[in-house]
Amino acid sequence: MLGVKGLYALTLLAGVVVGQDAITAAGTNFTLTGDGMSYLFHVDPNSGDLISDHFGGPATDFTPPAYILPWGWHDDLSNTRREFPDIGRSDPRLPAIHIEHAAGNTVSAFRYQSHEIVAGKPSLPGLPATYGEAGDVTTIIVQLYDNVSDVSAALSYSIFPAYNAIARSFSITNNGTRNITIDRAASFSTDFPNVELDMIEPYGDWAHEFQTVKRKVDYGETTFRSSEGYTSHTHNPFFALVSPTTTESTGEAWGFSLVWTGSFLATAQRFSNGYVRVLMGLNPLHAKIPIPPGESFQSPEAVGIYSSQGIGDMSRSFHSLYRNHLSRSKYTHQTRPILLNSWEGLGFDINQTSLVNLANEAEELGIQLFVNDDGWFGVEYPRDNDTMGLGDWTPNPSKFPNGLQPYVEQVTTLNTSTPLQFGLWIEPEMVNPNSTLYHQHPDWVLHARNHQRTLTRNQLVLNVGLPEVQDFIISTVSQILDSAHIQYVKWDNNRGMHELARPADDYTYILGLYRVINNLTTRYPDILWEGCASGGGRIDPGLLHYWPQSWTSDNTDAADRLTIQMGTSLVYPLSALGCHISAVPNSLTGRTTSITYRAHVAMMCGSFGLELNPSELDPSEIDLIPGIIAEAKRINPIVISGALYRLGATEWPAVQFVSRDGSQSVLFAFQQRYRVKPAPPPVRLRGLDPLARYWNGLDNQTYSGSTYMNGGLNVGWERADYQSRVVWLEKV
Ligand SMILES: *[C@@H]1O[C@H](CO)[C@@H](O)[C@H](O)[C@H]1NC(C)=O
Ligand SMILES: *[C@@H]1O[C@H](CO)[C@@H](O)[C@H](O)[C@H]1NC(C)=O
Ligand SMILES: *[C@@H]1O[C@H](CO)[C@@H](O)[C@H](O)[C@H]1NC(C)=O
Ligand SMILES: *[C@@H]1O[C@H](CO)[C@@H](O)[C@H](O)[C@H]1NC(C)=O
Ligand SMILES: *[C@@H]1O[C@H](CO)[C@@H](O)[C@H](O)[C@H]1NC(C)=O
Ligand SMILES: *[C@@H]1O[C@H](CO)[C@@H](O)[C@H](O)[C@H]1NC(C)=O
Ligand SMILES: *[C@@H]1O[C@H](CO)[C@@H](O)[C@H](O)[C@H]1NC(C)=O
Ligand SMILES: *[C@@H]1O[C@H](CO)[C@@H](O)[C@H](O)[C@H]1NC(C)=O
Ligand SMILES: *[C@@H]1O[C@H](CO)[C@@H](O)[C@H](O)[C@H]1NC(C)=O
Ligand SMILES: *[C@@H]1O[C@H](CO)[C@@H](O)[C@H](O)[C@H]1NC(C)=O
Repeated sequence: MLGVKGLYALTLLAGVVVGQDAITAAGTNFTLTGDGMSYLFHVDPNSGDLISDHFGGPATDFTPPAYILPWGWHDDLSNTRREFPDIGRSDPRLPAIHIEHAAGNTVSAFRYQSHEIVAGKPSLPGLPATYGEAGDVTTIIVQLYDNVSDVSAALSYSIFPAYNAIARSFSITNNGTRNITIDRAASFSTDFPNVELDMIEPYGDWAHEFQTVKRKVDYGETTFRSSEGYTSHTHNPFFALVSPTTTESTGEAWGFSLVWTGSFLATAQRFSNGYVRVLMGLNPLHAKIPIPPGESFQSPEAVGIYSSQGIGDMSRSFHSLYRNHLSRSKYTHQTRPILLNSWEGLGFDINQTSLVNLANEAEELGIQLFVNDDGWFGVEYPRDNDTMGLGDWTPNPSKFPNGLQPYVEQVTTLNTSTPLQFGLWIEPEMVNPNSTLYHQHPDWVLHARNHQRTLTRNQLVLNVGLPEVQDFIISTVSQILDSAHIQYVKWDNNRGMHELARPADDYTYILGLYRVINNLTTRYPDILWEGCASGGGRIDPGLLHYWPQSWTSDNTDAADRLTIQMGTSLVYPLSALGCHISAVPNSLTGRTTSITYRAHVAMMCGSFGLELNPSELDPSEIDLIPGIIAEAKRINPIVISGALYRLGATEWPAVQFVSRDGSQSVLFAFQQRYRVKPAPPPVRLRGLDPLARYWNGLDNQTYSGSTYMNGGLNVGWERADYQSRVVWLEKV
């Protein structure tokens, strides 16, 4: 066991590393140094290609590559570990960049020209990205040029040493006189040596988001993608590569995360020599992006994080990096109001009277934010059901005779000593054919010539790539927000993109969406924005840049939710998720669990609330609500800023947060199924100071940190399914 002195020495060593330059160039040998990670690459002096040397634990020297027979079928380039693989020069592996040149060929030969190291990190025009000051991040920009096709590339690598994170992106400039087309662009690309790796990736569906699967990275391509035009429920732009022996708390793990909301492609390709090429970027099915002469294409950013201490440590680095250097909402670091959403309670059957009554009940329960969901808009095509109204964002006059303002004022002044906040649902990227907007602008929707415009949920997608659509959304949403005192917006998106006029329409759409959201979040910084896409269909780093939180899943069954939330926490901080208690039996699964269990599952997320009509609750449940709200308020700060540890076994999952100063910790422990045998394992805590002593609220005793971490706590489960405990620990 590592003694305290050992730990201290390690800390000092880490301090030495921090003191070094984060990026050094010895000639054209480049070393990027994190607190516990090195990333090395260099320029091949003969070919001008960029060669991958190392991405992993600390390493300081450039060493010769693996010995490969100097003759054979595949030549040198195929047996080289490459940083920015192009296509057509004997390397048959997948490229990071694939350009169709003006002459029609797709051969590229990018050769090193120059490099520049800058303190801090330049922003990416029009794109969400990580950010930081000179003390947080250092950037190297490497210029490459293909002198045959007259195309240049600028590769950007930014290192955040404290997070062992590298953010990468590139731009391509057409220096020629005719159009070129981008067919494929992987923002992160590097080649691992012949080492054994497994891929861990999220997959899922509606109401079944963020399941995880682990598979061996074998010969060929281990790959997944979204072709739905947006992030989607099916996959998420994230994967981890781990050694076969890596666990939650030990071993090497590399995470790759794309800061992008559109279609994407993630691949690990193992070639005959065993090398593994990692590619994370745009989906070629939705590329074919034209670059006119003199113009540039900017790729989205992808983030790679290394940990030598398991999957959990990799996740914590993503959580901290994304909270401190990606999400820019002022709410990212603030506790969130406890909300009640009208949807499960009232559905479309709403009017000012019924909503104010619901708000009143919510206020009396101690709710802080009342959210008016779908159904409030549409004049000629009233939104009484999902067959009409989307696109017509005018309050319905028979539901709100005097518009939103007097209604919102009524809600927010129900109790002047604890004023209720008001929030509103919108889905501004969508339109129903049954709408005034569609009749005025049938050409504003995504469509391909005379192909049928296929409907999902009776709706079509506005082409947000069109500047006039962007301006329409900006002005419509601004008018709504200016019309009443709205403090929260739930921005929904309930279908994928089908008929595209051009494959690149997806790319253009997402750039347009970023322009719209950037505009609105800049203009209304005091609004708490929450993303939603039929549940968790659009949880991604791109939107997290603008919006501090996202609805996790339409599945609010607490037993299912626990799995979904654990999966989401692989890369996203739980502080960025919305999680609510709903009524039982659950409308999707028919399962009944106690309100305490449902509350404990929901409380581990940043935005806690109720998604029900209080009248549906049992009186015994109502009696528990004030205590649940008080507990949620007490827990929220540690969820917002603490470090997350995933603990526990399949039937006894557990989650632990440790406060930033280490003085407090809270354990959420669960028993999914009671079993006669075996006995529940002890819950071994993590992240505590082994020598400090902590009081715990389970048995009202004080033990050392090492006792909690090595011996563990025995929760003492009852003989029942779906049990939960929240246990506080305080350093004494
Ligand atoms: C760069 O690394 C190579 C080994 O890959 C070494 O031969 C060369 O001397 C190094 N160049 C400099 C300037 O350090
Ligand atoms: C492109 O650059 C390479 C390497 O510097 C040189 O050998 C070649 O002649 C150049 N080709 C053209 C078309 O300029
Ligand atoms: C290509 O064009 C860009 C933008 O005009 C310019 O900065 C760059 O120097 C050009 N590169 C070459 C090799 O001509
Ligand atoms: C180049 O692409 C633009 C659209 O980006 C198009 O308007 C123009 O006609 C194209 N030019 C050529 C020569 O194909
Ligand atoms: C509001 O809706 C409720 C429930 O559907 C209904 O009973 C009531 O009559 C409506 N009130 C108005 C003023 O429309
Ligand atoms: C939807 O609402 C409209 C307007 O109230 C109504 O005319 C229509 O019959 C409803 N359609 C369905 C399928 O319920
Ligand atoms: C307003 O809220 C406070 C605090 O929750 C409560 O004590 C008071 O009774 C409420 N007043 C009314 C009029 O409901
Ligand atoms: C328009 O609304 C009517 C009434 O609800 C519905 O029957 C019809 O299917 C809707 N049309 C489309 C294209 O959704
Ligand atoms: C938002 O868009 C409007 C309308 O296009 C424009 O006037 C305004 O300057 C933009 N604001 C920001 C912050 O981008
Ligand atoms: C916890 O322990 C303290 C000190 O032994 C005691 O004063 C207190 O009553 C105990 N609390 C409970 C709830 O048992």
